[in-house]
Parts: sequence; structure tokens; C-alpha cells
Amino acid sequence: MKISALEVRPDALLATWSRTGRVIYPALWLRDNCPSAFHPQTEERVLDLLSLDDEPVLLDAERADEEVILRFADGHVSRMPMALLAEHRPGSTPRDPAAIAPQIWRADLTPASLPRYAANRVLESDCALRAWMQDTAAVGLSIVDGLDNRVDAGIEIACKIGFLRETNFGMTFEVVSKPDPNNLAYTAVTLPLHTDLPNQEVPPGFQFLHCLANEAEGGGSLFADGYALAEDLRAKDPEAFRLLSEIAIPFRFHDSDADIRTHAPVITLDRAGKVSEIRWNAHIAATFDMPADIMPAYYRAYRAFMAMTRDPAYQITFKLKAGEMIVFDNRRVLHGREAFDPSTGFRHLHGCYVDRGEFNSRLRLLARKTH
Ligand code: OGA
Ligand code: ZN
Repeated sequence: MKISALEVRPDALLATWSRTGRVIYPALWLRDNCPSAFHPQTEERVLDLLSLDDEPVLLDAERADEEVILRFADGHVSRMPMALLAEHRPGSTPRDPAAIAPQIWRADLTPASLPRYAANRVLESDCALRAWMQDTAAVGLSIVDGLDNRVDAGIEIACKIGFLRETNFGMTFEVVSKPDPNNLAYTAVTLPLHTDLPNQEVPPGFQFLHCLANEAEGGGSLFADGYALAEDLRAKDPEAFRLLSEIAIPFRFHDSDADIRTHAPVITLDRAGKVSEIRWNAHIAATFDMPADIMPAYYRAYRAFMAMTRDPAYQITFKLKAGEMIVFDNRRVLHGREAFDPSTGFRHLHGCYVDRGEFNSRLRLLARKTH
């Protein structure tokens, strides 16, 4: 993209771009983002914004090769790269390789159409790693298969993305039926669709569940796209959607080692009003504490969402096999499992989490070196 005209105002540079038309760059923004404002090695800003005038005065702008040379009344001369001005047009968000649009699904997603990648490809090839991560970000759910029969095999794949997210359940966790469980996942009972740890200030991002054994009767998995549930609720029952996105409810997990609580809405929206997070876990929703006069309407909305989570029209179901790992965005996709009968065989999943921030960072780094 090229600049076809430059105009100088004391308070701003006006650039006309060949494709997007006229863009206004305020003078203070130009100074705040002048290349001289950044450390040459760390590329972090070292300029003290308060050292500038409240309203720096722009005197002159001149095109030179790939730069625009700007002169200010206080004597400062900026050499602004055209590329910087093109990428950072006030009012538009710069391109981000980690900003992958969600592909919302309902029961149309089937085990056969679920993104599926081979463990050795993801471990050995940056292209495969990136393709898998992009699909996992878009769909919110994928399978990696061909994992070794070792408890660390799934963790090694998660670590290709980034640091693990440690929680009160440990750096990694074993999902097996245990004698003295502190979590329903560690029993053999049904787990209705839920997201993990909504009681955390920031719930874990991506969840990895490596299946090492699934020999018991029962124990099938189910998943639903929380974004689909929320968008359909918004369309058919806007008042329920409003209550679930505006009213923070309490969530709490407690055992002998931890008492972790937060208040948060079931549906979180981003700056653009799009659904960006779902917190859904009836087992660790704490005692509702909103005013009594709101409660009937809130319960109606909460139960409407709950009823949708039970509707097969939103669900994908299958039984994980040993050597497969299910990977999903725990802040978007709800997961659950059928009850199983531990007397009929062993069931063992090994899990960990990697937060969205680490995931997105890896996507950006991979975008630098793969195409
Ligand atoms: C969990 C969980 C599902 C399963 O550990 O959080 O939901 O299939 N497990 O056991
Ligand atoms: Zn869970």
C-alpha cells in the first residue's frame, strides 16, 4: 500500500493511502510511536510520555524512500517507517496471526470431521504444529493420535506450545477413579458438560487429556461449543443472554489445601460484543448471592442455558481410545463424560493445561518462520 498524499496540521499528520483513503495520525501518537522512543535492542518503549508537550506541534512532513520525515516545533525530527504507519492506522487493529476466527459448530461436527493430527508430525514439523494449532483455535477442539503409552507423551506435545498452567490439581493431573477424590472427575460418575475451574480468576485456557486406557464399560466423552450455545441463546432469548453475560455469579472450589473463589458471569463478551468465554460448571457454582428480586429471572436464564447443554443438537460424542489426546479451549468448549464401571476395566486420562496467552504467542512465533 502506498501513500498518495500527505497533509500537515499542527495537531496531526493526514496521510492518504492508495487503498484505504485518508488516515489521521495525531501528533502525540506520532511522538509516542517514533522509532527513537524505543530501546534499540529490547524494542520496549523508553520514552517518558510526560516529557512531551501536551500538544506537540507538527511543522512539516516529507516522504523519503520507505519513511516519512516529520519535523516538530520542539526541534524533534522523526523518521517514521511507512510500514509502521500502514500497519498501525488509528481505529483499525493490526493483523495478528493469533486472531483466528472461531468456526462455530453444533452436532454438524462429527468424530470423522474433527481436526485430527498425528503426534509425531506435530512434534517434528513446525508446519504441522502450526496447522494443528490453527485448527484447534478455529474449532476449539481437536484430536492428536498415535501417542506413546507413557504418561508424559501428551505433556510433551502441550510443551511444544508453551508453559503448562499449574493449578491446585498440580502441574499435570491423573483422571482415574480414586479412593479419596477431591473432584468428581476422579470418581466414576457422569460428568455433565462443563468447563474446568471457572472458580479461578482466569480459568485455564487449552486443556489436554491424553487417554492411556479406556477399557471400562461407559466413559464416553461429549463436547459442545459454548460459543454456539451462547449465540443461539442470544438469538432466541436475548433477556436470558443479557442476564448470563451481565450478572457475575460465585464459583468456588475448596478442599483441605485450597479455597479458590471468584465471581464471574457465565458468558463473557469481548470489546466488540462477541462471546469470548464461557464459564459453566454446575458442580462448583457456589451459592447464588444476587439480590432476591433478580433471582427468579436469573434462575430462568441459567436453566435455559443448562437445558441447551443437554440438547444433543449441540453435542459431539465419542469414546477416546488409548493413544489419543483430546485438546480443547476450556474457556469455549464444554466437556463431559458418561459414567463408567471401574469393575469392568481400567480408565486413565492424563491431563494438563496451557493458557491462551502461551498458545497465541506460539502461533505468532510460528507465523514468523512458517508459511
Ligand atoms: C476433567 C474431566 C473428563 C473425563 O478431568 O476435568 O472432565 O473424560 N474429565 O474423565
Ligand atoms: Zn473437566
